[in-house]
Amino acid sequence: MTRLTHLRLAHFRSHIRAEAGFDGRPVVLFGDNGAGKTNLLEAISLLSPGRGLRRAAAEDLIAQPEGLGWKIAATLNRAGTLHDIETEGRPGSPRSLRIDDKAAPQSALGRVSAMLWLTPAMDRLWIEGAEGRRRFLDRLVLGFEPDHAEAVLGYEKAMRERNRLLREEVRDAAWYGALETRMAGFGAQIIANRAATLARLAAASDPDSPFPHADLTLLDDAPPDEFSLAEAWAEGRRRDMAAGRTLIGPHRADLGAVWGARGMPAAQCSTGEQKAMLIALILAHARALRQDTGIPPIVLLDEVAAHLDEGRRAALYDAICTLGAQAFLSGTGPELFTHLGTRAQCFRVHADAGHSNLQESPLP
Ligand SMILES: Nc1ncnc2c1ncn2[C@@H]1O[C@H](COP(=O)(O)OP(=O)(O)OP(=O)(O)O)[C@@H](O)[C@H]1O
Ligand SMILES: [Mg+2]
Repeated sequence: MTRLTHLRLAHFRSHIRAEAGFDGRPVVLFGDNGAGKTNLLEAISLLSPGRGLRRAAAEDLIAQPEGLGWKIAATLNRAGTLHDIETEGRPGSPRSLRIDDKAAPQSALGRVSAMLWLTPAMDRLWIEGAEGRRRFLDRLVLGFEPDHAEAVLGYEKAMRERNRLLREEVRDAAWYGALETRMAGFGAQIIANRAATLARLAAASDPDSPFPHADLTLLDDAPPDEFSLAEAWAEGRRRDMAAGRTLIGPHRADLGAVWGARGMPAAQCSTGEQKAMLIALILAHARALRQDTGIPPIVLLDEVAAHLDEGRRAALYDAICTLGAQAFLSGTGPELFTHLGTRAQCFRVHADAGHSNLQESPLP
């Protein structure tokens, strides 16, 4: 499995200094509002490609008012191999990353850790715009296809360039052709990865689970193969120029979800039902990854317990323990986690004069 075994934070948001070792059991973080629980989960989320669970800019992570640089140092155990990860940000410079003491691009983190999260902000995932759903889907894909991050980055870079030509009304067919060919290579890979992931998740859903299985569909107008994609963009140049951007492609895809048992579109389900559907997806993902690679992902569940009734909470904890995925769960009080008992490692997070402290403390 992938396991975070050690974490050290310096000047990261409210954590001026924090250090903890994790023994592989699910980790409970409890503490009052504003104690620093989400900040800690955010630091862990930065051990995977991208901007972490708040999508914050590196500058925002700098502990204030001190205003010095922040640093996260972590050890990850991936199927018995240890990896040292260090990432840091300083005022005025972009975030840097080192894996096993060598400078590395962020996309390389996809090969070291698979990570998923649920946060309170995602309560509106099925209701708000497609961008959040696409991002969630791409994170699911990343667990199965570590190269997906590079395909998405490559696609977006070529598309940004094409969009710039469109806005500037450049009419150089060879230039467009070269960019469209690059976009089509990455685009076809993105579409295929997404489709394979949805098929894999459907196969891994557990019909007996108390978390409702969602039928997922990829809503994408783009043709799936490389040749047709390039052709569609070449034919659409005039229309795209009028719009000033690329109007079709996998960057416009959406994820549709229907609650299997009731045939109800996700957006019309209750808040608790929508949350349960996301949990079902995360559990199916962990199950599939464990079956395929023997390596379940790290799962960050920010304030998930508070939204579940007692029965579902217990079912979630049991599912996490059965899967053997390392989960980090936050909540305001330890009583939310009593069902886990000694199956979890528990930390109290508390704030003192604006700074967070982390203290291992057994569940009562
Ligand atoms: N860059 C920063 N520097 C210093 N403190 C910060 C920074 N960014 C956020 N904080 C503070 O960190 C504190 C802890 O925030 P966090 O979101 O981790 O709390 P929490 O324990 O998750 O609380 P809740 O239960 O309300 O979700 C907050 O008071 C927040 O204002
Ligand atoms: Mg929080």
